[in-house]
Formats: sequence, C-alpha cells, structure tokens
Amino acid sequence: MVGNLAVEAISLVKRFGDTVAVDNVSFSVPEGSVMGLLGPNGAGKTTTVRMLTTLSVPTSGTGKVAGHDVVKEPELVRRSMGLTGQAATVDELLTGRENIRLIGRLYGLPLAYLRRAADDLLEQFSLTEAADRIAKTYSGGMRRRLDLAVSLVAAPPVLFLDEPTTGLDPRSRVELWAILQELVRNGTTLLLTTQYLDEADTLADQIVVVDAGRVIASGTPTQLKDESGAARVVLTVSDDADLPRAAELLRRCADEVHVDSASRRLSAPASGLTEMTTIAQVFAESGIAVDDLGLQRPSLDDVFLHLTGHRAESDDGAPAGERGVEEALR
Ligand SMILES: Nc1ncnc2c1ncn2[C@@H]1O[C@H](COP(=O)(O)OP(=O)(O)O)[C@@H](O)[C@H]1O
Ligand SMILES: [Mg+2]
Repeated sequence: MVGNLAVEAISLVKRFGDTVAVDNVSFSVPEGSVMGLLGPNGAGKTTTVRMLTTLSVPTSGTGKVAGHDVVKEPELVRRSMGLTGQAATVDELLTGRENIRLIGRLYGLPLAYLRRAADDLLEQFSLTEAADRIAKTYSGGMRRRLDLAVSLVAAPPVLFLDEPTTGLDPRSRVELWAILQELVRNGTTLLLTTQYLDEADTLADQIVVVDAGRVIASGTPTQLKDESGAARVVLTVSDDADLPRAAELLRRCADEVHVDSASRRLSAPASGLTEMTTIAQVFAESGIAVDDLGLQRPSLDDVFLHLTGHRAESDDGAPAGERGVEEALR
C-alpha cells in the first residue's frame, strides 16, 4: 500500500457570498504520513477540512479520502475517516466511557467489542481513572483527549484534526503530540490544521501554508525553512577590541551585517554551510579569536513572516478554540 494517497484536495473552492473562503486549494497526503495545514485565523483551514470530511459541499473542485470522492461517495469517505473538530463535541453529561460507547454504537460496533475498545482507548489516553466521571468535570486537556479517543473508536485509517491543541496548556499540548505520534507510528494518516508553527514543525511530514484561502507555500518543514533563505551565520568574537575588524571582515563576505556589541556577536545572512565554511576560513586566517560560530536556521515563524509579511498568530482576540461550537462547526 506504500505510495497510495490517503487524502487529496483537488482544486477545492468554497465561496460564501462574496467571501472566497477556500481558493483553488490542492494538495495530497500519502498514507501513513502527517500533513499540517498551517495558517492564521480565517485562512480557510476549517472550511477545507469540512469539505474533505463531507460536512460541506465544495463550490467547485473535489477531494478524495482513501480513494473515495467526497462529493460522489460521501458514505464511503465517512467510513474511512475520523474527525476531531475545533471545539469539543463530547456529551458533557455522559461519562468518558459512555461517550466512547455511544459513538461506537452509532457506528454499529458490537457491544462486546466496544467494552474492550473503550477500556483500551481510555487507557491509551490516560483517562482510565476519570472514565466513569461525567465529561463536564474534565479539564480542557482531558476533553481534547476524550474527543480524540471518541474519533478513534471505529479505528479510521485517516484522521482529521482541526486545531487539536488550540486552547491547551503547554503540558497538555506536548502530551497530545506524543499521542498523535504514537497513532502515526501505528499507521494512521493525519491531516491536522494548526496556527502554531512549532506544532507543524514537530508533527508534520509535509506542511501546506494557507493564507486568505490560498496555498502560499508547501514542503517539508526543512524545505520551507531553506526556501525562506533566512538562515544566518552567527559568530561571537572573544575580545571586544576585535569587533570593528570582525565586522569589516564579515562585510566582505556578506551583506546586511548586524553587530551586537553587548554580546560581542555578529551575524549576516548565509544561504548554507558552504558560505559559513568560507566565513570560518576567513576568520581563522585573520587571527581574530572566535568563541562560537554557527548557522542559525530560520524558525517557521520567520518563514511565515517571509511568505506573508505578517506573523502566523493573529491578533484578533480570542483564540479559535474559545469560539462557540456553532461557529466552529459552521
Ligand atoms: N458559513 C460561513 N459563512 C460565511 N463565511 C464563512 C463561513 N465559514 C467560514 N467563513 C469565512 O471563510 C473564511 C475562512 O474561515 P475558516 O475556514 O473558518 O478559517 P480558519 O479555520 O483557517 O480559521 C473566513 O473569512 C470566515 O469568516
Ligand atoms: Mg478553523
């Protein structure tokens, strides 16, 4: 099965009146891999996921999940996938265990099987102790884990996660990442949306960057960082007195040299290791003592800024995870 595509977006377009929420988006996700759909609030991530999970009909274009067309074969698509939406969808008045069993029953899974599956999932998501408490008493992190457990009860080969960690505290985020990595190790294909660059960097094999409904870049995290060309060579001289001469030397090798006297640090754009090696040689020959010399790769934050001219985290107030269920489920 290696090489098959688990998810394909084919020129997807979604218009709401005058708003083009998704504007000709195409990408593909090989089986067993993780794709991160990365973009700020309003970029069109949820709308894209909703079309691929049959919750919304594309204005034009289509998608495929496990080889099935989302427009022509929605039933088959639904049977191949699980979805965890942006807002928690668990029933607050049911216990964790009951939530899992309920959804399992809706999928038509036999009760004997479900008993065991529920136990296993509760265990896997560290919810065994809380299994018989109503979900209302759960913390945000526990709810997200229960949400995920519920979407996994039918063991779908493809899992869509819409901003799985938005609104979670840092510890819960890292815990959830570990769970997702375990799922992928066991063969699940993941398509997750996120506005967090570190999340895409940590989890995704491929990142598709969207902004205002359009794909503005795609590639592996490393490719995106390399393409942004924002790598810098950074060196620290041992002696303050050498700073002016060091700056002059560096200016001969690169443009836009930046000097920070307080830290005795100089930096300049460098495309890669070759350029850094040249600079290292020049300094070795100059006799200037250097404490430290290295290549600083850009963060995905730098990449996003480079691509869009603005930072990924939007400043429009509440994080998406705190919006109401209705809005998140639109
Ligand atoms: N049901 C809807 N009606 C009108 N506009 C919508 C609807 N759903 C989404 N939008 C608009 O489409 C754009 C993309 O929204 P969305 O897909 O939710 O982005 P994201 O999930 O990346 O934050 C936004 O401008 C949003 O306001
Ligand atoms: Mg969204």
